Amino acid sequence: MIVQDTRIEIEKTTNSRLPHTDVNNCPFGKVFSDHMLEMDFIDGKWSKAYIKPYQDLVLSPATMVFHYGQAIFEGMKAYHLEDGGVGLFRPEDNIKRMNVSAHRMSMPEIPEDIFFEGLKTLIDLDKGWIPTNADSSLYIRPVMIASDDFIGVKASKNYKFLIFTSPANAYYTEPVKVKIETNFSRACKGGTGFAKAAGNYAASLYPATLARKDGYDQLIWTDSETHSHVEEAGTMNVMFVINGKLLTPPSSETILDSITRKSVVTLAEQMGIPVEERGITVAELMESIHNGTLDEAFGAGTAATIAPISLIGFEGKDYQLADPKTWKISTKLLKELNDIRIGKKEDVNNWLVRI
Ligand code: PLP
Ligand code: COI
Repeated sequence: MIVQDTRIEIEKTTNSRLPHTDVNNCPFGKVFSDHMLEMDFIDGKWSKAYIKPYQDLVLSPATMVFHYGQAIFEGMKAYHLEDGGVGLFRPEDNIKRMNVSAHRMSMPEIPEDIFFEGLKTLIDLDKGWIPTNADSSLYIRPVMIASDDFIGVKASKNYKFLIFTSPANAYYTEPVKVKIETNFSRACKGGTGFAKAAGNYAASLYPATLARKDGYDQLIWTDSETHSHVEEAGTMNVMFVINGKLLTPPSSETILDSITRKSVVTLAEQMGIPVEERGITVAELMESIHNGTLDEAFGAGTAATIAPISLIGFEGKDYQLADPKTWKISTKLLKELNDIRIGKKEDVNNWLVRI
């Protein structure tokens, strides 16, 4: 049972949309649950957190986030557990990463305890919105924006923090076709690539749109200086099985520190799969395609879970990979991860947080 924190005030909806929503059939990102959490940073401190009916925001056209883009967000998921409870997967890691992003974007950190309590209270209140079918979950989106009405260029003084949730099917319903991007860059040394900052996504949209016109779903970004090393994809980190070994670039200044990727690395090590976290060159990846040693390729992310890559495009040529249904390692890792997330498998790493 959630004991209500006195720093959180709740106004429940009197007009729930749940009876008219088929939570098991919601495409990713389109349907939003009954309640949201809102908390403002005003005059140097965080106000009380309010959980209230999901609603629009009223903001002045001068609100700083619209102009200079101080906006950060997170993504996590809530699941029904086998024993009838509700679980979150490693939420403390998302809370910590939100504050890493806040620091880089000159925004105030959110006290971890109030973030955590607010999150748990919100999910408990809207647990009826958590889908029950295997490929779905309740996607949780915390977001913080600059809220001053001012159009001079500086860090805002005031901020708005929100958490809202969305019942959602898998982000990718089919294996993903990716293009290795060697012209545009997502992140650079000294930049904001490691932060979950809205601007990183904004800057990626034009190159992603060009790639989409050519039939790709996503880009695999490469380092901005030499375009010789694989970094990550637009919505997930990347992992490859070459010669039976699981390879993945480690998180860095230019790669988001994916909670899914690091969980997969831990699970693979615990399952006895050889793992190497190291730089991977595009040349090495292409060589593995040419000599037939690339066994599997996939993305790892909260929304994406483990998303098999079916095709890799590079320098105008497409390379079709073997049928992902035949892949052993990623299939095993996805099952292990899912079983832990729903409490079917013993959580030896203490990743699951019960609501
Ligand atoms: N990389 C990017 C750019 C992302 O947007 C995401 C999604 O959160 C990831 C990687 C995967 O991170 P996580 O596994 O923590 O969701
Ligand atoms: C996530 O996986 O949670 C993400 O934030 C990726 C994407 C939906 C932006």
